[in-house]
Amino acid sequence: MSKQIEIKDLDIYYGSFRAVEGVSMLIEPRTVTALIGPSGCGKSTVLRSLNRMHEVIPGAYVDGSVMMDGQDIYGAGVDPVNVRRQVGMVFQRANPFPTMSIKENVLAGVRLNNQRISRKDADDLAERALRGANLWEEVKDRLDLPGSGLSGGQQQRLCIARAIAVQPEVILMDEPCSALDPISTLAIEDLIAELKNEYTVVIVTHNMQQAARVSDRTGFFNIAGTGKPGKLIEYNDTEIIFSNPEKDDTQNYVSGRFG
Ligand SMILES: Nc1ncnc2c1ncn2[C@@H]1O[C@H](COP(=O)(O)OP(=O)(O)OP(=O)(O)O)[C@@H](O)[C@H]1O
Ligand SMILES: [Mg+2]
Repeated sequence: MSKQIEIKDLDIYYGSFRAVEGVSMLIEPRTVTALIGPSGCGKSTVLRSLNRMHEVIPGAYVDGSVMMDGQDIYGAGVDPVNVRRQVGMVFQRANPFPTMSIKENVLAGVRLNNQRISRKDADDLAERALRGANLWEEVKDRLDLPGSGLSGGQQQRLCIARAIAVQPEVILMDEPCSALDPISTLAIEDLIAELKNEYTVVIVTHNMQQAARVSDRTGFFNIAGTGKPGKLIEYNDTEIIFSNPEKDDTQNYVSGRFG
């Protein structure tokens, strides 16, 4: 269920603009990896390259490879739709479909994949996904009411339930807590800690405490200046990145001296 990700010499472009240069990272299954760094250094760009969402943007492409359990997701003949089924994504702002019920929101990805399932199986799957997202107890009595009626933190967990309902191997999260209050943030962080038992999790966060709390490994990205490509400056165990990093830039960033 959980895959290893090996990024090798990855350059990521928007047309002629090279937004990210020379990224190599080995991400082990059943771990949480945090991507940190100042705004514009390419964290979201790197994250989106891991499920081929990057290419959805006209003129955008990558050079290099991203291997999942040894298979290049950019290899010839690989269907990006299939990649996105295996690598789920949760965005900064919870984006449930507003008119859809809570249950149908959870099943939306499954329906998109044209998987035909019986009503009973659909109910079971929705329950499992909602339990997996720590939301079941809060919504079990209102599954047929609109997803938009939930609080922000609940909506974000609903989106996580939607992501895990398709049974991915990897879950990507781009600042999943930035629009949430501290209590909801802690709920999501607890959930991330649980998700790692089954999935490879990669999370972008601006919150240093969060990176330190939830991740096993941390990658620090930076840019030399406007228009320059973002680079992975340092990648190591989270504890080392936050207590004793190798590079001065990393030290300055994690101690809040810039960015
Ligand atoms: N759709 C796009 N088209 C063109 N350039 C883009 C696009 N999205 C991002 N970029 C550029 O790529 C670079 C990296 O952007 P990215 O969004 O990955 O940064 P980030 O580290 O996630 O920043 P933030 O912390 O602000 O979210 C920036 O220079 C940005 O302007
Ligand atoms: Mg971003």
